Amino acid sequence: MYKNQKHMKYLIFIGIAAMTLACAPDKPKNQEQYPDQPTKSAVEDIIADPTKGIGAVKKVTLKTPLEQERVGRGLAIFEMKCSACHRLTTERVVGPGWKDVTKRRQPEWVMNMITNVDVMLDKDPEAQKLFELCLVRMPNQNVSIGDARDILEFMRQNDGAK
Ligand code: HEC
Repeated sequence: MYKNQKHMKYLIFIGIAAMTLACAPDKPKNQEQYPDQPTKSAVEDIIADPTKGIGAVKKVTLKTPLEQERVGRGLAIFEMKCSACHRLTTERVVGPGWKDVTKRRQPEWVMNMITNVDVMLDKDPEAQKLFELCLVRMPNQNVSIGDARDILEFMRQNDGAK
């Protein structure tokens, strides 16, 4: 009798140990990050309005007449950071000529292209078409949103806005 009881305790112990192992939660899966997948907000942006591109710039308010201070600053940035690859005419050198860019694109798209170029080239179909044409990836030049807004104003003037 004593022997059986001991045996019994042993069995119960094994039983509990087995159940504990079986019920232990799985190691959490999907812990890795998948940087290639669009973030939720990027997906929302695409659904919201594909013509605005992908990035932090959701809504730009344009003023008439042009804001001349911005135009001046935009011209300076163009000369310093953009003119190596972009002309102000329709001529394509490394990148497309800027003439009429503000007519073919939404202002938000232009500013997202300038400030979020890596994501735009990876996910925005219009940016990808340009890449297929130019075969050079426009580099990220760490342009701030304020500077991109100034460049946009300069582009508007280049396109004949008053
Ligand atoms: C090293 C060359 C290079 C430089 C410098 C450069 N870009 Fe670009 N840009 C490109 C290329 C190439 C494309 C076409 C997309 C691609 O292939 O990456 C492009 C596309 C663009 C477009 C879209 C044009 C369109 O027709 O829709 C805008 C806007 C733009 N660039 C703005 C800028 C601004 C603003 C600067 C300066 C701050 C700049 N780029 C500097 C190469 C350059």
